[in-house]
Parts: sequence; structure tokens; C-alpha cells
Amino acid sequence: MVTDEYLDRVGEALVNGARLAEKAGFDGVDIKCCHRYLNSELLSAYERPGKYGGSLQNRTRLLREGVKGAIENCSKDFIVSSRLNVYDGFPYPYGFGVGRDGTLDFDPSEPIWLIKELYEYGVRLLNITMGNPYFNPHVNRPFMRGGYEPPEHPLYGVSRVLNGTAKIKEAVPDMALICSAVSYLGVSAPNVLAGFIEDGKFDLAGFGRTIFAYPDFANDIVKTGEMDKRKICLCCSKCTEIMRTPGGTPGCVIRDKEVYLPIYQQQCGGKQK
Ligand SMILES: Cc1cc2nc3c(=O)[nH]c(=O)nc-3n(C[C@H](O)[C@H](O)[C@H](O)COP(=O)(O)O)c2cc1C
Ligand code: SF4
Repeated sequence: MVTDEYLDRVGEALVNGARLAEKAGFDGVDIKCCHRYLNSELLSAYERPGKYGGSLQNRTRLLREGVKGAIENCSKDFIVSSRLNVYDGFPYPYGFGVGRDGTLDFDPSEPIWLIKELYEYGVRLLNITMGNPYFNPHVNRPFMRGGYEPPEHPLYGVSRVLNGTAKIKEAVPDMALICSAVSYLGVSAPNVLAGFIEDGKFDLAGFGRTIFAYPDFANDIVKTGEMDKRKICLCCSKCTEIMRTPGGTPGCVIRDKEVYLPIYQQQCGGKQK
């Protein structure tokens, strides 16, 4: 287990990193708090003793102090944001954003408290995400084909993230929110997401795997109002398989196969796991 002193130093490093990023000319930083990484693991440290565990204040301390310190130490135009897991998808006492009754139902009350705090500190933009790509990728990146049979239809996973983001927007309307987990929508994505945005349910749509498969998709939507069905992500999970191997550089094995098929074959033996 990492010590509180170690986490104190991580907090200082987050603030220092933001200062250096601004000095280097970046417009902003994303203090990542999702997908199994340290900040997001602490969100569910219900049983950890000391100042980084137990109460909601303590479990969110590293993120809150990192964000607050970054805002205080950078200029007012510098963007301090976070990619934030609002739901882990495994039960209490291990998951964040789930009910205390042991079910997997999304409970937004703690995430909403945290987001209101971040707003008070001056944060105005967040990316909302869910799930752990190493443990329950069907929650984080709903797939057609992957290492296991998902326990729910992939559209259920997409809907959990989109409607979960909308629930947060309802509670903190002045925070600009970017949704996640939209690639499974395929050619329907532009219309579905435009509908959510038009209804004020979130502000921006964040694409993940589509960026690998179809890097020009946004340009096509702007120019033609559509995505080309021959270029969309097939949600086959091959890029995720590469990501999970030591030293693997992920990319689209289907649409960019000259580059990534050899990497896939070398890293994963060419077989779907
Ligand atoms: C191969 C691969 C690598 C990823 N790497 C990162 C990463 O470094 N940081 C991050 O925040 N998300 C990462 N993601 C997650 C995506 O940003 C996104 O949340 C996820 O794929 C769901 O969105 P989608 O349905 O549009 O793909 C990665 C996803 C994939 C498939
Ligand atoms: S390998 Fe390509 S098609 Fe398959 S999930 Fe990744 S981006 Fe999508």
C-alpha cells in the first residue's frame, strides 16, 4: 500500500506538473481520475485508514488538492480539467458511484458532491467516464467482440454513460461536460449525440476508439453530416488487446492494418483473447 506521505508528494507533483505544463505553453491539463489509475482507485478507498481513505472528503483529497493547487498556481486562462470516473461498475466497498446495497446500480450522489466541489474551485470542464478497462471493459468501452461475453447488451453500456452524464449535468448545469464511450453507436453517433447535446444533457461528445479507426470522422460529420460506414470502428477490441500487453503500441488493427496488424500479431499472437 502506498503511504500517505507518498500521496502527499503525488499531490505536490500534480500541482508542479500543471505549473510546468503552463510554462511549456500548454493550454491546460487533465488531472486524470479514471480507469483504475491512482486518483480513481482512491475514490473507493472506503477502508483505507488515514487522510486519503474512509470519508468522501478523504477519498477525494488527492484529486481535490491537486486540482485546487493547480488552479491556484496557474494563470486564470489556464484550463484545469479532469477525466473523471463517476462509476466503477463493481460493488461497494470496492467501487465508486455504486449504491451501498451491494448492487451495481449507478448512484450519482458522491460524484455530484465531488463535481460541485471542483466547480467551487474553478473547474469548468470535465470529461465523464465509467468503468475499468482492465477489469470490466464492457462498461468502459462497450464492445461487439472481446475477451468475454459481456453480461449486458453493448447499447446498455453506452446508455449508462450517456444518461449518467446527463444526470450529472442536471445537478451541476454550469459545468461543461464531455461524454464518453460512444464508438459503439457507429454511424448513428452524430445524430444520437447531437440529440443529447441539443437537449442540454451534456456539452461535448468524446470519441475513443473511433479516433484510431477513423481519425477524420469529425471532418466528415462537419462536411457531410454523416460518418462513412466503411471507416467506422467495429468495436472488435483488438486495439485493447494490444494495450493490455507489455510495451504494446495500440492502434486500429482493422482500418490501419499495415501498421497495426504486425504489432497485433507480434504482441497478441494474432489470436483474439
Ligand atoms: C487502445 C485504447 C487505449 C486507450 N488509452 C487511453 C488513455 O491513455 N487514456 C484515457 O483516458 N483513455 C484511454 N482509452 C479509453 C478511451 O479514451 C475511451 O474512454 C473508451 O475507448 C470508450 O470510448 P469509445 O467507445 O468511444 O471507444 C483507451 C482506449 C483504447 C481502446
Ligand atoms: S481495432 Fe479498430 S475496429 Fe477494432 S476496436 Fe480498435 S479501433 Fe475499433
